[in-house]
Formats: sequence, C-alpha cells, structure tokens
Amino acid sequence: MTYLVTGGAGFIGANFVKYLLKKHPDIQIVVLDDLTYAGNLGTIKEDLKDPRLTFVKGDIKDRKVVTEIFEKYPINYVVNFAAESHVDRSIENPQVFLETNILGTQNLLDVAKKYWTTGKDAHGYPTYKNGVKYLQVSTDEVYGSLGATGYFTETTPLDPRSPYSASKTGADLIVKAYGETYKMPVNITRCSNNYGPYHFPEKLIPLIIKNILEGKQLPVYGDGSNVRDWLYVEDHCKAIDAVVLQGKVGEVYNVGGHNEKKNIEIVKLTISTIKRLLEETPAYRKALKKTGDDISWINESLITYVTDRLGHDQRYAIDPTKITNELGWYPETRFEDGIVKTIRWYLENQDWVKEVTSGDYQKYYEQMYGNR
Ligand code: NAD
Ligand code: TYD
Repeated sequence: MTYLVTGGAGFIGANFVKYLLKKHPDIQIVVLDDLTYAGNLGTIKEDLKDPRLTFVKGDIKDRKVVTEIFEKYPINYVVNFAAESHVDRSIENPQVFLETNILGTQNLLDVAKKYWTTGKDAHGYPTYKNGVKYLQVSTDEVYGSLGATGYFTETTPLDPRSPYSASKTGADLIVKAYGETYKMPVNITRCSNNYGPYHFPEKLIPLIIKNILEGKQLPVYGDGSNVRDWLYVEDHCKAIDAVVLQGKVGEVYNVGGHNEKKNIEIVKLTISTIKRLLEETPAYRKALKKTGDDISWINESLITYVTDRLGHDQRYAIDPTKITNELGWYPETRFEDGIVKTIRWYLENQDWVKEVTSGDYQKYYEQMYGNR
C-alpha cells in the first residue's frame, strides 16, 4: 500500500511516519511537507534512509506538486496532517490558516478524486478504485468549548471559536462535502491535545520543558484553570492507523485520552518531574543552561500568570466510545508514564530542540511573551 502523508515533517505527522514504518513492512510512504517553521526535515532524517520513504517538499495547495505525486506514485491512502496548527498564531494572522487548512485540504481532495475515479454509477456518482481512502486529521477544537461537565461526541454540534478551529472546521466540512457529493471514501478523526517527542516548543508542554531547562519563567495564561484532555502521540498514531484500515467510510471518529488536566496541574507536574529526573540521573543536567550542582531553583516560583489568550476555550474533553467499540482502540499510555517518556526524550534530544528553534523562533517568542 502507498500512503501520501502530508505534514510528515511536523510533530504528529513525523510520529505517524515512524509508526507506519515500524508497523507495516510492505508499505511505501510519500511525505509532502512545505517545511514551514513547524516542519523540520531533521525529525525524519534517519527514516529517510529507509527506501520505503520518499520526501517531497511542497505546499498542499499547489495543484502541480500534488498532481505530480499522484502521477508518479500509486497512492492508496492520503492522510492529511499538514496544517497551520497553533491557536495563538491564528489569533495574530488568521489568513494563512484559512489558506492552508481549508484550500489545501480541498486541493488534496480534488486531486485524489481525479486520480481515484474509475467511472460513474447509474446515478452519476463517481466510482472509485478499490482500497483507497482520504483521512483528514482534525481536532476536538471544532466542537468549541465545554463548561465544567460533559464530553464531545461525534454528534456534538460544530462550534469553533478561534480562527484555527474555524479553519479546521471549514476543512472538515469540505471533506464531508466530498464524501456526500462525490461519494469519496473519506474519514475524519478529531483528537484531543497530543504530547510526546518532536513537539514544537510553542505548545504548552514542550514550551514549559524548554523554559525550565533554560531557567526562564513559565507563562500560564489566565488563572491556569483551562482544561485539556492529553493524548500520548503514539496512541494517536495507532488510532489513525486503525481508522485508515478499518474505519467505516464516511464516518467521524473522536480520539481522546479520558485524561483531563488543568493547565496549572500540567505545569506543576512538569516542574516536579524534571527535577526528579535531574536528581535521579545527574547526566541529564547537561541539558540545563545554568551550570552548577544546585537545582533548588527548579520550583513553582518559575510560574508566571500572564494575560489570557483571546477567546480562550475553557475545557476540552472527548468521549472516545465510538472508536473503542467499533475499532477496539483505546489510549494505552497513562499520562503519568507518557509525561516521563516525553521529558526524558527532551532531556536526551536537546540538539533537536536547538535545531528547530534556530530560525524565527526567538522572534516569535519575544513577540508573544516579551523578554521574560
Ligand atoms: P505541526 O504544526 O507540528 O506540523 C504541521 C506540519 O505541516 C509541519 O511539518 C509543516 O511544515 C506542514 N505544513 C504546514 N503548512 C503546509 C502546507 N501548506 N503544505 C505542506 N505542508 C505544510 O502540527 P501537528 O501538531 O503535528 O498537527 C498535525 C495535525 O493534527 C494538524 O492538522 C492539526 O490541526 C491536528 N491536530 C493537532 C493536535 C495537537 O495536539 N498537536 C491536536 C488535534 C489536532
Ligand atoms: P496549546 O498547547 O497551545 O494547545 P491548544 O491551545 O490547541 O489547546 O495550549 C494548551 C493550553 O495551555 C491552552 O489552554 C493554552 C495554555 N497555554 C499557556 O497557559 N501558556 C502557554 O505558553 C501556552 C503555549 C499555552
């Protein structure tokens, strides 16, 4: 089987590529990624030595590039991770979110439809090659924000509130439209907040880890009471693999961890875990910017409450019953274990962090957070 994985040099896409290569011996993967600030070829550098993996640099909106891929490779599955993915950036500059997330998705669908169509049925609907599917990687943020109780299910009305989530909702609706209007074999997955290796340090968990190691303050928006449902990235990859191969055509699947935590809890747990790991394994201290044996400064006094995000969604929580019942998927990694694995990975992979933050990152950080 041949997969087109877009956004495969980003956080979840790269983890998915690594997962597929391990899991499926007979696979061919083409990664299409435009290597924006969030994409880094270094993340899949080792994987690219594998003859089963091919990299194409290009924009998902670019008709010519996507067409060339379909001309050259017998694509069975498209898994679309490519997106502008950070809410804070969408508040500053919404337009690129609409362009990439909506128009890029439509371009992929359109080229896939063209290459996968085999003819027409008696009602005039296109018919498709066997064994092809388009999977859109979406987010729970399309459902909006929850109060203190309740969960998002697949039938929760779409109610996005940020430019990012509005653009992801637009993309979901165009995927649905291709499914209904042209009977294209599509699925949509909507997952909660991922965490794990290769997470770009503009998102909460990797940003907090990076700041602790640099002895910087830890910016918590508002009062830190916002709740996210954290999912270990490898569990998410397993869910996508299951939906590509066994998901019922046309269906939406929510993917979540039943693992709700307040932001402030995440930040405190990250501080105490880093400190413990540095105490247990002194060799990890080389990841610290400050030298010396004293690490007593790693404590909750690093936390700084900063101005809240505009329109900050209060709570996300997913009910994953459908994917569990239909496909047998469940989140295997307990948060307590996943966060330790994640922090260890960052302690052991500071070169990666330096590489991905060597470009515009500093400028972005100063604009967002000032010179803390
Ligand atoms: P990311 O920002 O780490 O990576 C996005 C990747 O897409 C990068 O490699 C980037 O170079 C590439 N890209 C961006 N614009 C492109 C374009 N026009 N053409 C080609 N490539 C382009 O994002 P992520 O966290 O890995 O998220 C992947 C997907 O999962 C996104 O669709 C996101 O909306 C969704 N999602 C993420 C989370 C999360 O917690 N990270 C949660 C729910 C849903
Ligand atoms: P983030 O990782 O940006 O994911 P999302 O906004 O898609 O859920 O943020 C997770 C939560 O952490 C969110 O409630 C905003 C908050 N947050 C902070 O408090 N400080 C920060 O510096 C960042 C980046 C996020």
